[in-house]
Amino acid sequence: MIEFRNVTFGYNNKIVLNDVSFRAHFHEKIAILGGSGEGKTTILRLILGLVRPDSGKILIDGQDITRLTESELRDIRMKFSIVFQEGALFDSMNVRENVAFCFREYSNYSEDEIESRVREILKRLGIEGAIDLMPEELSGGMQRRVAIARSLAGCNPKMVLYDEATTGLDPLTADNICSLIRELSSGEPPDRAGFIIVTHKVTDAVKVAERFMYIRNGIIAFDGDIIALRNTGDMELRRFTEELHMAENCL
Ligand SMILES: Nc1ncnc2c1ncn2[C@@H]1O[C@H](COP(=O)(O)OP(=O)(O)O)[C@@H](O)[C@H]1O
Ligand SMILES: [Mg+2]
Repeated sequence: MIEFRNVTFGYNNKIVLNDVSFRAHFHEKIAILGGSGEGKTTILRLILGLVRPDSGKILIDGQDITRLTESELRDIRMKFSIVFQEGALFDSMNVRENVAFCFREYSNYSEDEIESRVREILKRLGIEGAIDLMPEELSGGMQRRVAIARSLAGCNPKMVLYDEATTGLDPLTADNICSLIRELSSGEPPDRAGFIIVTHKVTDAVKVAERFMYIRNGIIAFDGDIIALRNTGDMELRRFTEELHMAENCL
């Protein structure tokens, strides 16, 4: 369980989140929507303890992480896997090394074991054939798959955090990544690992998520399911979801 209690946070006194509270179970499928610069990535950074709130509490499984030391935070971070914004990979490493990196960082596997686990995870994501390629040799969609493989390597996450997992991809490839996100979180709660996907692409969010949170001006201006999202009376959010209505009208 993730719980934000009256969290206020700013960079250099510029407030990004203002008294934000919410609770989320690890098995939930959540999309955090919002325009660019509204604080979506910041929420993920707060969950991982990469930045600390100016006031308020963040509880992970009941433990207040705002007071933990770096080494205690490491255990908290192991509950999550994170796919960074635009799926950044290490440019100088091939796919094998990119994925192996996390096993080396977080496990005591032998090199043989790492090799077989890297192959296993690439196979699961349908990209085994790319094992010897460098990131620059991969399409945008393949890069994103490798980034997801890397985030899953070496940990058994309770929840996956995706930062703009489909941003910058053409619609077909984005759709493909959405299918993968759904597949990785299939299964029944409470056992499945859920996710939080942070995105400004509403059309992709509705393909994967069950709960939608919209952040604007430092607050959660909306929190609800797809039906509530479609029927929202919030004019700003409606403007934001126009993309969605347009996509439906084209069908
Ligand atoms: N490291 C940082 N230092 C100062 N300001 C930052 C930093 N990271 C983000 N910001 C600012 O905080 C706000 C929220 O950023 P972010 O959470 O990245 O937004 P989003 O992911 O929704 O685009 C933006 O105005 C951004 O410019
Ligand atoms: Mg961001």
